[in-house]
Amino acid sequence: MAFDRPPMTRSPSAGDTTAVPPSPDGIPILGNGLAFARNPIDAIKRWSSLGDIVRLEIPGQTMYLVTGPELIEQILVAEHERFTISPAQRETFRGIEDHAVTTTTGDRWERLRSTLRPAFSRGAMDRYADRIVDTAATYIEQWDDGERIDLYREMRLLTVRILADTLLDVDIRGQEDVVMNAADALVDRANFRRPGQLLPDWIPTPTDRRFERAVSDLDAYVDDLIADRKDRERGDDLCSVLLDARDAGDLSSEEVRHNVVAMLLAGHDSPSVALTHVWRLLDEHPDVQNALQEEYVAVVDGDRPTGESYITLEQTQNAVSETLRLYPPTLGITRQATEPVTLDGYDLSAGAQFLCPQWPVHRDDRFWSEPTAFDPTRWEDPAVRPEYAYFPFSGGPRNCIGIHFARQELTLVVATILGEVELDVTVDEPLKFTPSLQLRPESDITATVHRQ
Ligand code: HEM
Repeated sequence: MAFDRPPMTRSPSAGDTTAVPPSPDGIPILGNGLAFARNPIDAIKRWSSLGDIVRLEIPGQTMYLVTGPELIEQILVAEHERFTISPAQRETFRGIEDHAVTTTTGDRWERLRSTLRPAFSRGAMDRYADRIVDTAATYIEQWDDGERIDLYREMRLLTVRILADTLLDVDIRGQEDVVMNAADALVDRANFRRPGQLLPDWIPTPTDRRFERAVSDLDAYVDDLIADRKDRERGDDLCSVLLDARDAGDLSSEEVRHNVVAMLLAGHDSPSVALTHVWRLLDEHPDVQNALQEEYVAVVDGDRPTGESYITLEQTQNAVSETLRLYPPTLGITRQATEPVTLDGYDLSAGAQFLCPQWPVHRDDRFWSEPTAFDPTRWEDPAVRPEYAYFPFSGGPRNCIGIHFARQELTLVVATILGEVELDVTVDEPLKFTPSLQLRPESDITATVHRQ
């Protein structure tokens, strides 16, 4: 099937090595950065309408916005060896995850990724499943009937606890804010508003100082956690595989610490954003919510889901997939070319930087019928669209290592909560997002709890 854009996006003719991708108009000096800082989603939507590959001038750099699924697949999968993570990604995690799988490259990244793999194996997932349900069921016991909760904060607290109970096998109760403060400080520092302030990097800002304090608190917490786990029996959870590798001389202490930090941050941020949107969308679509409740009654034998329920909760899984389509928790995947590449007929030099944003691709009417409608039933039929028209977890060898963990977690948490309470959600409209690589909701999202 051919997926054509309107004529303005025609690729250059063969042999034309001077052609450059279309560009949006930008204000001189700040280029397109200001539009992004004002409203990241609107800016990305507008720019992506110019073509499958668009050239952006943002302060200090040129970046190519790539929204054609075949081009995204070329970058992430088919020609992944010609690309590496972007300097922006390394800069985002500087001082907190420099020795983690999220920021390293080459042999070091391969070594870290293969060390972590057993903690995300099918067997490990099966063992985490019942713990996920237990943690969620225990967590929501504290919600009183009629209580009004800060939905996003509650989903963050819950997902931090789930990570600690499963991947790390430690009790984090009461210390969740140490993790959440570090995540907030990281996002604030990386915030794309910063280029708009025109401050040189060497001037420390209150944001930088807050970041340093938050990182030092999180490092101290993680060091205690590792000391606590050191002499306990080992299994195949994440802490065990990291400590086994350190004891075998394959990993340094810093690598252990930074990878625990990376999991605590990456492992709670996106799932909590996704869960917040699930509740918002279910509240807006009572028909879908009813269908999920009926599925729960049909599938769950007893008063709680089990690990095995995950496979049979198909409609709940579809609602999760659909939420990740409409509200992907990350703005996009960033890459940098390590050698000259040709994309859509354009010859681009080594060092070129790319952003593959999920939002416009997940809502592109070339691939999705009624793209803005929340319709979980669209996942019931085999897809008739390019594979990379949907990539909330990225793709290729460097995709999200937590993809199966996250899918299982989101499905089981939604089912566990739906089995006990209804959430009546209120959103401070219009929905706004942080202008950073993490698409966090900035608007107030609260919910009133109704026990069933
Ligand atoms: C809804 C949930 C989640 C979403 C949408 C998500 C999305 C992503 C995306 C888009 C990337 C970037 C990959 C790339 O650069 O190509 C990523 C990387 C990563 N994610 Fe997730 N993620 C989620 C949950 C999790 C969880 C639960 C964990 C851990 C328990 C996790 C750990 C990681 C790590 C460690 C990386 C870096 C992988 C590497 O560079 O090798 N994520 N994730």
